[in-house]
Amino acid sequence: MGKYIIAGNWKMNKLPSETCAYVKEVAAATAGAQCEVVCCTPFTNLAEAVKGAQGTHVSIGAENLHFEDKGAYTGEVSADMLLDLGVKYVIIGHSERRQYFAETDETVNLKVRKALEKGLIPILCVGESLEQREAGITMDLITIQIKKAFAGISADDAAKVVIAYEPIWAIGTGKTATAEQAEEVCGAIRGVLAGLYDESTAKAVTIQYGGSMNAGNAAELLTKPNIDGGLIGGASLKSADFAKIVEAAK
Ligand code: PGA
Repeated sequence: MGKYIIAGNWKMNKLPSETCAYVKEVAAATAGAQCEVVCCTPFTNLAEAVKGAQGTHVSIGAENLHFEDKGAYTGEVSADMLLDLGVKYVIIGHSERRQYFAETDETVNLKVRKALEKGLIPILCVGESLEQREAGITMDLITIQIKKAFAGISADDAAKVVIAYEPIWAIGTGKTATAEQAEEVCGAIRGVLAGLYDESTAKAVTIQYGGSMNAGNAAELLTKPNIDGGLIGGASLKSADFAKIVEAAK
């Protein structure tokens, strides 16, 4: 449906001094990729990551941004700062940021809007906890997350957003959603988008799965019609593992 994108989410891993060489390693390991390949790194590593990606097919993303243009926001990083470095993507609303850094659907919406206004591609994360899944409210919750994240966004801009469906119970746990579970939610997300906008906008959006995706399970997940790629945590830290996932995205 949407463009295939495999994005690594390094989280708080790797040093700036090892980043340039590692991104070059990723580029070499994924040469011939038939999808977009992205490395999302900590702020401190971005300049080195961009350097490593220069002249290759790899794009670089950040893991967060602030929704204001500039000003007295100690410790924050703006969209213009990211763009100035050559960053193309930005992860927004990852469950770890919602859980540990008090991100809300409202701040997520402000950040998605700012990213789009400035020309960064947002990778918007949504997903339910195990408790919410067991309570049978997965789609209610995700519908709210999507509706709030897309508030005030035009159809043209909405089509540029990448959505990562990441069930919280599958992140870093080795417990992947089955391909059927992932497809069910990704398909439902496309249905929510079709309701908010229209069918063609819904089809244009890249919907990734994330949560313990690895070299062994990627192919099955990626054959599902509504799964257009992956957001990869742990398995993005070893280039050979990451490359196998990219290879599976054919
Ligand atoms: P994981 O993380 O692949 O290590 O489960 C995915 C993510 O949180 O984006």
